[in-house]
Amino acid sequence: MEIKVVSNQIRTHKPEGLLCAQYQNRKELPSAFPQFDTLFKDCITRSLSHKRFSGELNELELFHNCQSEQPELVAILGLGKINELTSDKLRQAVGHTIRILNRKHITRVSMPLLGEGSKLNALERAQSITEGILLGLYSFHRYKTAKKKSTDLKQVTIVCTKSEKTAVRTGVKNGQIMCQAALLARDLANEPSNKMYPADLANIASEIAQKHTLPISILEKSDMEALGMQAALSVSQGSAQAPKLIILSYRGKTDEKVDLALVGKGITFDSGGISLKPADGMGNMKGDMAGAASVIAAMSAIAQLKPCINVTAVVIAVENMPSGTAYKPGDIVKVMNGTTIEIISTDAEGRLTLADAVSYVNSSIKPKYIVDVATLTGACIIALGHVASAVISNNQALANKIITAGCKTGELCWQLPAFEEYRTQNKSEIADLKNTGGRPAGTITAGLFVGEFAGSTPWAHMDIAGVDQSEKEYGYITKGATGIPVRTLVTLALDLAQKLND
Ligand code: BES
Ligand code: MN
Ligand code: ZN
Repeated sequence: MEIKVVSNQIRTHKPEGLLCAQYQNRKELPSAFPQFDTLFKDCITRSLSHKRFSGELNELELFHNCQSEQPELVAILGLGKINELTSDKLRQAVGHTIRILNRKHITRVSMPLLGEGSKLNALERAQSITEGILLGLYSFHRYKTAKKKSTDLKQVTIVCTKSEKTAVRTGVKNGQIMCQAALLARDLANEPSNKMYPADLANIASEIAQKHTLPISILEKSDMEALGMQAALSVSQGSAQAPKLIILSYRGKTDEKVDLALVGKGITFDSGGISLKPADGMGNMKGDMAGAASVIAAMSAIAQLKPCINVTAVVIAVENMPSGTAYKPGDIVKVMNGTTIEIISTDAEGRLTLADAVSYVNSSIKPKYIVDVATLTGACIIALGHVASAVISNNQALANKIITAGCKTGELCWQLPAFEEYRTQNKSEIADLKNTGGRPAGTITAGLFVGEFAGSTPWAHMDIAGVDQSEKEYGYITKGATGIPVRTLVTLALDLAQKLND
């Protein structure tokens, strides 16, 4: 998908489709394409006068043309009230519209730099448009044997003024980098679990490392044994697949200290283990490595955007399976920091692998901030639905940074309380902790369980269980893996880099 930026050269170029926007309550008509002005104004006036179109957000009117020399299709997109337009509204509206144009087999579309007159600057508008296009057109069709071409739409031209051109180019470039990472995360999480074992995830991380010259180490089961990662290894022990510990780094400045560690839950398939999950929907648990996919993918964008910050991603990749060698409810296992854990449910496996991953990060990497990302609890879907990720943190400034980053990217985050009182639910009678704190506040107790291993390091946990996959297509979200919260993690790294250098 090519995204071109041109300033006022539209006369020489004949798009198949034109995409223009109209706002609610705006009388004057935008005029981005001088040679098509009459056509365009005619379309808008007709639809406005028939009261078919008011410019409401996401409203779409399509006009088909039979005259040659003119675009075959004119699409007029409502963007709502101009002063209420946000980057995510624009991203969603473009994502939704571009999919419709693609399904009409349009191959080339031109549009003005939508969002003119709003609070958004040219760079933000260009980035949102780019992200809407690239995220909205995604599909996962690797396993369709009839070779399906990716999209009919091959080229989008953004028309801006001469003075906007540099900002627009930067916005497009940033959007492309962000989306390449988000779509990589979608791909990884969409892969079936028989194509995405821990070793496959490690191989992909290695390819990314090579491509962007990032240092990487992959630790094997024997290394993990030597480190004492019994909790993570116990989850793995029912599976025929070897566990992998992936450590992928980016150095954006000369000092050694790691500023930000991103820890991802990497359960390549979560059957529940001996505490077997019900059959219905179990296949979705191929996506239980979405946290891992997100942190690995985020590193590829960080490597290209080159913020002045040191970031390390850590993933313990394992498969949770029932078998004669599987761990069992009632077992007691030890985390590498010495904490003992009573297993109540083998389906609460994510927090066990994260306990060792966060312990490892805290003792060996010693970063300034730890952020873990996990499809950790079904309870999160009950609490926040499919709208927002849950944030649980021991550091308000860090939580705020994540929430702010999420607002920018449209990947909404909502903080849940981390009151001391909740921690008692994780206490065991016979070990230090137990791996479930019961149903009440399940997302909070699971998050706080992971937080136990961060010690006094500023830490935040993101439970993405409600947002990592989507059953329906809307805005720029496509069915299956969503790639959330890759763009937020990248934005967080950029924002932290800014703050650290202030
Ligand atoms: N991976 C699941 C959580 C999950 C459920 C993610 C549904 C996405 C959709 C996790 O490992 C799990 O099974 N959690 C249990 C914890 C319980 C046993 C305390 C849950 O939420 O039921
Ligand atoms: Mn589970
Ligand atoms: Zn799980």
